[in-house]
Amino acid sequence: MDDLDLERVRRAFPALADGRARFDSPGGSLTPTVVAEAVADTLVAGLSNRGPVNPSERRADEVVTAARAAVADLVGGDPRGVVFGRSMTELTWSLARTLAAGWGPGDEVVVTRLDHDADVRPWVTLAERVGATVRWLGFDRVTGELDDVTDVLGERTRLVAVTGASNLIGTRPDVAAVAAAAHAVGALVHLDAVHLVPHAAVDLTALGVDLLACSPYKFFGPHHGALVASPDLLERLRPDKLLPSTDAVPERFELGTLPYELLAGTTAAVDFVAALVPSGAAEPPARRERVLTSMAAVERHEAALLARLLDGLGSMGHVRTHGRAARRTPTVLLEVEGRAGREVHEHLGSLGINAPASNFYAIEASRWLGLGDAGAVRVGLAAYSSEDDVDRLLAGLDSLG
Ligand SMILES: Cc1ncc(COP(=O)(O)O)c(C=O)c1O
Repeated sequence: MDDLDLERVRRAFPALADGRARFDSPGGSLTPTVVAEAVADTLVAGLSNRGPVNPSERRADEVVTAARAAVADLVGGDPRGVVFGRSMTELTWSLARTLAAGWGPGDEVVVTRLDHDADVRPWVTLAERVGATVRWLGFDRVTGELDDVTDVLGERTRLVAVTGASNLIGTRPDVAAVAAAAHAVGALVHLDAVHLVPHAAVDLTALGVDLLACSPYKFFGPHHGALVASPDLLERLRPDKLLPSTDAVPERFELGTLPYELLAGTTAAVDFVAALVPSGAAEPPARRERVLTSMAAVERHEAALLARLLDGLGSMGHVRTHGRAARRTPTVLLEVEGRAGREVHEHLGSLGINAPASNFYAIEASRWLGLGDAGAVRVGLAAYSSEDDVDRLLAGLDSLG
């Protein structure tokens, strides 16, 4: 099994030179130099609107095609079903408007209390607007495990929106089981994979979901969003569009001119992920395979660090953690006895440790856990996190006891 060469990985991120220990990566990962260079190079190379004639037109076209192929390789999707947008939030609002056009009174939509609000509010708002019923799926407040989806499914369920991983407490629900149950009643499944993709090898087909959303800035890329679906499903949906814009799939889901330079950065980010474990072979395997190898190494690295972190936290009587799902990302929500989250955030910050406190927009989860809208301190590991980072965090929290 190939493991990460952590020193090599860390050297790729110039921001780490400031010496801070970063636990705020669930809010957005650091960016490697290769991604920044791809963005800058594309911007200055000369870009026109996409087209077949001039080099700058062809460049724009190639950038888009390459980015669709890259995101498809990252999640095991079909490049013809990759849609780009301003953010996951924006894409989900647009998708909700499109799908809700086919819903009416009596139809039902399932959302979870574990999800980030970007995978809750668009569905709730649009369901209410068309008179459809919202069914809420909770989670166990102690373990953080999602409740049984079959409790809220029915013949009229049209959509189940579920997270691949909670950005608040790390729970990774059994998405394949949720998708199978939803499909058994004829519902579509929308997966928020924003917090899953940076931490796991993702396979859209194996998960069995219909629509998968992710955000490249969480996996070392630039700030925009992507939605991945089967081209056949996209062909059946009719989003609002301008008169002269193309009706082709996936373009008809993309509003206005795409951010070509950011898409080039996203391709570079996927290439970076694929090379996290370098292939020594003279003829390297296909990128999809290299992604899977690299992400398996990331999972092992993060799991080892998470064990070290949880072990340290477990011995601190003044620290309380939330959630302990069987499958989870290395993302821990914690409270320090007698201290407001903001105080802990500032104390750690003064020690060179980034660990903010908030509900992180998983506001339903925060309220469900009894943390109100203030939330708590979130510490999230990333592929570039080190044992030294974890030990510094533990020492910083220990000093609050
Ligand atoms: C789990 C999860 N879903 C959705 C989002 C929203 O993504 P975007 O910023 O691309 O709209 C985030 C952002 O933090 C997230 O963590």
